[in-house]
Amino acid sequence: MQKVLVLNGPNLNMLGSREPEVYGFQTLKDIAELCKSHGAKNGLDVDFRQTNSEAEMVGWLHEAFSSKTPVVINPAALTHYSYSLRDACAMVSSAGIPLVEVHISNPHTREEFRHTSVISSVARGVIAGFGPQSYLLALSSLSHN
Ligand code: DQA
Repeated sequence: MQKVLVLNGPNLNMLGSREPEVYGFQTLKDIAELCKSHGAKNGLDVDFRQTNSEAEMVGWLHEAFSSKTPVVINPAALTHYSYSLRDACAMVSSAGIPLVEVHISNPHTREEFRHTSVISSVARGVIAGFGPQSYLLALSSLSHN
């Protein structure tokens, strides 16, 4: 099976209780289980991770680069300002390794600072606004590579 890294940024470990009116009631563990079973049905072995640390996230992109592993990433707030994460994503994408940006909410319907993504222009594609389904759509796009 093709391995895929599903990477989650800061505060996503609090899903389920964090602003449920925006992010819903499903926990990150629920989303991990959805991703793993959807991945398995599509020939993908999902390695699902979350960190509150920008440095750890950058390290995971280095790992994806070295192992040529496709990435689905919800960078959370790092989306909007992290140039170190952008550079790491650019390195992965420019090596021809698929990298898909996902968001649970649609940042474009929210505060102005969320309208900027420093990641989107170095991602293969962006899926936002479909709740946990955003992750499954991203995984499906990778299984059709
Ligand atoms: C998010 C959107 C970001 O703006 C926010 O900082 C998050 C979650 C989403 O999945 O909708 O933490 O990436």
